[in-house]
Amino acid sequence: MVYLNGEFMPVERAKISVLDRGFIFGDGVYEVIPVYSRRPFRLQEHLARLQSSLDMIRIGNPHSSAKWSEVIGKIIADNPWSDQNVYLQITRGAAKRDHAFPKDLKPTVFIMANELIHPTPELMQSGAAAIVLPDFRWLRCDIKSTSLLGNCMLRTQAADAGCAEAILVRDGLLTEASASNVFIVRNGTVLTPPKSHLILPGITYDVVLEILRANAIAHEVRLVAESELRSADEVWVTSSSREVLPITTLDGKPVGRGEAAGKPGPVAQRVYDLYQQFKASVMRAPTHA
Ligand code: PDD
Repeated sequence: MVYLNGEFMPVERAKISVLDRGFIFGDGVYEVIPVYSRRPFRLQEHLARLQSSLDMIRIGNPHSSAKWSEVIGKIIADNPWSDQNVYLQITRGAAKRDHAFPKDLKPTVFIMANELIHPTPELMQSGAAAIVLPDFRWLRCDIKSTSLLGNCMLRTQAADAGCAEAILVRDGLLTEASASNVFIVRNGTVLTPPKSHLILPGITYDVVLEILRANAIAHEVRLVAESELRSADEVWVTSSSREVLPITTLDGKPVGRGEAAGKPGPVAQRVYDLYQQFKASVMRAPTHA
């Protein structure tokens, strides 16, 4: 079951105009919200980021927070899986093709859910492979825009190289990955770049920083040089679907040194465990985060 402009229907029945600016220009924004045991995780934070994306591209929010919660709740209830990925997208709506944003269009609102596929225990044990690529995307990566051609090209290049993710660098500095944020560990300190127009402000990124703070794990939010990435002791990517996933090879070379090279590191393991505990505690609470 999906939701389109006020109605719930099977996906085959969901149709939009070919003049929709989402189709013509990629003129829209989206969110992906993980759902555990039928409860959305960090829903208010996802809705706040949605509001900020809408504000930045000047689309009025078609729903209140309460209405979003209600509609998302119904999608979760109407789909068969206990753990889901809820995808929601808002485009500016349909209009005669013209680059400048037309005023007063009715936004198109679409929501669907898929089964949430967790990284397998084997993948967590082995870690994943990544390649490092130049970040050639635009300069407003803070907007969660559906215009994802750059990200799709970069992820495809990674997949062609047999890798799970493309880690991106711009002007000698780490930005993020094609669909995740990046953390590294050097000499026991966790490092990640600060939020800026060059990266998506990840909800998982925020959760991981909260966990690091709450557990007094040494960390710094600061610019990270490509050379620091390439000589890191540990590299992880974070996202709603991958949670905290260790990267154990970069461009075919093992991450880390000596005995530990090419294996998930101890800090990744600890943060992964803390993330699972945090999720479980939030999901048990009567009012969830
Ligand atoms: N991707 N950076 C980029 C470019 C992303 O696309 C994502 C998420 C993230 C991590 O954000 P979060 O922790 O809020 O999931 C960072 C989603 C999952 C996607 O496009 O499918």
